[in-house]
Amino acid sequence: MKAVILAAGKATRLRPVTLTMPKALVPVANKTLIGYAFDVLKRAGLTDIGIVVNDLDSPIPQTLGDGAGLGIRLEYILQEEQKGLAHAVGLCRDFIGDDPFCVFLGDNIFQDQMDALFADFLSSGAESAIALGEVGDPSRFGIAELNGDGTIARVVEKPKEPKSNLAIAGVYLFRASIFDAISRITPSWRNELEITDAIQTIITDGKPVQSYILKGWWIDAGKPDAIILANQLVLEELPYTPAPENKDQIVGTSEVSHRVILGKNSQIINSVVRGPVIIGDNTIVQNSYVGPYTSLGDNVRIEGSEIEASIVMKNCVIRNIPGRIDSSLLADNAQVTIAERMPSTHRFILAENSYVQL
Ligand code: DAU
Repeated sequence: MKAVILAAGKATRLRPVTLTMPKALVPVANKTLIGYAFDVLKRAGLTDIGIVVNDLDSPIPQTLGDGAGLGIRLEYILQEEQKGLAHAVGLCRDFIGDDPFCVFLGDNIFQDQMDALFADFLSSGAESAIALGEVGDPSRFGIAELNGDGTIARVVEKPKEPKSNLAIAGVYLFRASIFDAISRITPSWRNELEITDAIQTIITDGKPVQSYILKGWWIDAGKPDAIILANQLVLEELPYTPAPENKDQIVGTSEVSHRVILGKNSQIINSVVRGPVIIGDNTIVQNSYVGPYTSLGDNVRIEGSEIEASIVMKNCVIRNIPGRIDSSLLADNAQVTIAERMPSTHRFILAENSYVQL
C-alpha cells in the first residue's frame, strides 16, 4: 500500500511561525510534525509516500528530499491552489494507481499508532476505513455517525448541529473507488472539495466504510496552543533516563533531573533543568531554569532566564528575561533579550500575526 500525506495548506492559523516554515516541519519534541506521520506509516509497512505540497521548490522537498535518509521513498505532488482535501487526493491518482492507499493529514499527531486499522483493512472487504476520535467541539471537524456494527452510517463536514462527537481524525484508508467518488462531488459552502463528501458518496453507494476508534490523545496541530500541547504530550511519554552527569556538559552548580535528553556539545552551566525536557545540539543553558515540557532546538542560548512548557527552535536567544516564560513558541532565529542600556524600553520587531504578552 502507498500513502499520501496532505501538506499543501497555507497554515494561516500558525503564523508567523509558518511564514517561512511549513507546518509539517514545525518541531514537536525536536522532531518535525510530519516525522510522526512517517513513524506511523513506516510501522504499518507503508514506505512509498507521496507528499502533496503547494510548491515543489519549498522547504518540505528541500528538507526531506527523496526520503532516503529516513528509510522511506518520497515523491512530491503539486497542488497549486488549495481547493480542498478531495481535490488534493484526486491529484494523487497517477502516484497511487489502482491499489488501496492511505491518506494522512500532515498536521495531525497521534498517540495511537493504529496497528489494527492498517492490519485489518485489506482483508476486511470494506471500501474505506477511517480513524475517528472523540472530541468536545464536534462542529470544528468532519463528524461520523456509526451503525451498530461499527460501520459508518453518515459523515458530515463541520456540522452546525453535530449528531455525534466522533470526529474524522485525519487518517483514511481508501480503495481506488474514492477517485470516482471525488469526481462526483461539488464544492462545499467553504468552496472546497471535501473528502468527507466523497466518503459520504461511497456510503450512499451502499459500500461499507469501517470505523477505527482512536486510543489515547490525538491533536490537530493547526494552532500554536495545539503545537505546545502536542509537545507536552510527546515529552510526557519520554521513557525514564537517568540524570545526565557528564562533567563536560553539566557544569558548575547545575542540577539536572532524569528524563532530560541533551544533544551533542550542549552544556548546562550553573542552571536547573527539570525533565521531561529535550535539548538539541550545541545549545547552552546558563544561569537559567528550564522546566518540564520544554524542547530547545540546536544552537539555542538561554541565559539568565526561566522557561517551561515551551518550544524554542534552532538558533534562538533568550537572555536576562525577568519572570518565567511559559507556553511559548519561538521559531528559528528568534531573540528575546532585555535592553542592556538606558532607556530600558520594550522594543519589538514582529512578523504578521506575532503575539507578545508582557
Ligand atoms: O483535523 C481533522 C479534520 O481535518 C477533519 O475532521 C475534517 O473532516 C477534515 O476536513 C480536515 O479539516 P480541516 O479544516 O482541519 O483541514 P485543513 O484545511 O486544516 O487541512 C488539513 C491538512 O490538509 C493540512 O495539513 C493542509 C492539507 N491541505 C488542505 C487543503 C484544504 C491540502 O494539502 N490541500 C488542501 O487543499
